[in-house]
Amino acid sequence: MNKRFFLLLILPITVILISSTLDLDSLLDYENQIIPSYITKDNTTTNIITDEGVTLGRVLFYDKNLSANNTIACASCHIQEFAFGDTAVASIGLNGGTTGRHSMRLINARFSDEARFFWDERANTLEDQTTMPIQDHVEMGFSDTNGDPDIDSLIRKLETLEYYNQLFQFVYGDTIITESRLQECLAQFVRSIQSFDSKFDQGRSNVNGNGVPFSNYTNDENSGKQLFLLAPQFDNQGNRVGGGLGCQVCHQAPEFSINPTSRNNGVISSLTLSIDVDNTRSPTLRDLFDQNGNLNGPMMHDGSFMTIDQVLDHYDSIPNQAGNNNLSPLLRPQGNLQRLHMTTLERSQLIDFLKTLSGNDVYTNAKWSNPFTNDSLIVLGGNTSISLTDYTYDRVKVYPNPFIESIYVEWEENSQSQVDLYDINGKWLKSIPANTHVNLSDLGRGIYLLRIGKASQRIVKL
Ligand code: HEC
Ligand code: HEC
Repeated sequence: MNKRFFLLLILPITVILISSTLDLDSLLDYENQIIPSYITKDNTTTNIITDEGVTLGRVLFYDKNLSANNTIACASCHIQEFAFGDTAVASIGLNGGTTGRHSMRLINARFSDEARFFWDERANTLEDQTTMPIQDHVEMGFSDTNGDPDIDSLIRKLETLEYYNQLFQFVYGDTIITESRLQECLAQFVRSIQSFDSKFDQGRSNVNGNGVPFSNYTNDENSGKQLFLLAPQFDNQGNRVGGGLGCQVCHQAPEFSINPTSRNNGVISSLTLSIDVDNTRSPTLRDLFDQNGNLNGPMMHDGSFMTIDQVLDHYDSIPNQAGNNNLSPLLRPQGNLQRLHMTTLERSQLIDFLKTLSGNDVYTNAKWSNPFTNDSLIVLGGNTSISLTDYTYDRVKVYPNPFIESIYVEWEENSQSQVDLYDINGKWLKSIPANTHVNLSDLGRGIYLLRIGKASQRIVKL
């Protein structure tokens, strides 16, 4: 018998515990997502995306239990609606603390030659990166410093959660949780977030190179694309006298991912330090804007640019800053600070082009959305082993849950209360006597509701 049943407890009248469900027998598609043929950069090494691994990664990404006080998930600072970035300059972590740098959009993180992560590239792989926020005192608080718990106590906490027993069993064949399993699944989830349905992709898929005019573009968008792609020509004072604006050399199309050899771009201010010259990575320039043309939050590691015009002002005239020993030579033609002398028309053409780099699907597709409702989640199917963990509500215990053939409801019997079983639509099925094994093998697979209430308050429709 391979049936599985789930019980939700319902309290009298007003409080209803409704959870989302995740059905392991019909996983969403991650491993067969279409990657356009012109996309060639990929920083996956051995941790190949599987539907199972990403499904577990998605639960972890949205789970506030990954923070020491159960208030912050990865998704608190990486918000789907904003291309998995944050509109705040600094994101709020545990106990109101704020991050030292601006949160990064997590679009197409997989598709770059740069395998290191964070603005300053301090994580050597995405796998290494994923447990660093968990172990950060401000972000999620399992830092093992300043009185924080360590990551082993997080693992012990996750082991007590029923849905992780089921999910780890499903993905790995046993319920053991380790730091490297957390890293694998979180990295798979992040690598699964892909955005290739932009106007750029529609145009690019019909031609043989980035530089060929796109038939779906306006003239201005095509001109903006050339300005982005082509190198500038400079006089011997650093003034641009011809050519394009030279963005491509660092933000490489068609992925628009950062060139691994890039040094900093002259943005060196910091939210916490006096100067910060180590930021040599940028997220892809895809999805800077949302589908409506609004920016997905401030830009750069310090969140100092609120508009795209401020970004262009910066590249137009790279500032002369004492102490910047890591400025890219590409922005210092013949040792002079670059002066692009962008015209108003060039500026608006470049912005028109940058807006064609945004997709639609990634903002709304349920496969990257929050699987929890009211912080709770029920996992169905997947041939998981039967839970031995009891479901406890006050003095009522229901086990096993999920169950196969029968359940046992333990509570202090009192003449005022009674336990009733309902289907998910609220149809009453039967009364459940206390402290007795009740055979329910005649029920189909699904979610059932258990209501504890006064005998007189039996409900028929929820
Ligand atoms: C409190 C806010 C916060 C939380 C929580 C958080 N992040 Fe971040 N994330 C950031 C900030 C800020 C940065 C940039 C930090 C830096 O470079 O120093 C970042 C950077 C990243 C990057 C690097 C992206 C790139 O292109 O280099 C990844 C990947 C990432 N976070 C994933 C995660 C995952 C996975 C979790 C959960 C385990 C998580 N984050 C939790 C704020 C947060
Ligand atoms: C020399 C390499 C280089 C060149 C050339 C360059 N960039 Fe950048 N760009 C970077 C780096 C590095 C960052 C990350 C900087 C930081 O936050 O400290 C960045 C960040 C950005 C960001 C912010 C991304 C985000 O997610 O916040 C935008 C927008 C941007 N660049 C646009 C452009 C445009 C447009 C051009 C051409 C006019 C250009 N860049 C030329 C290296 C470069």
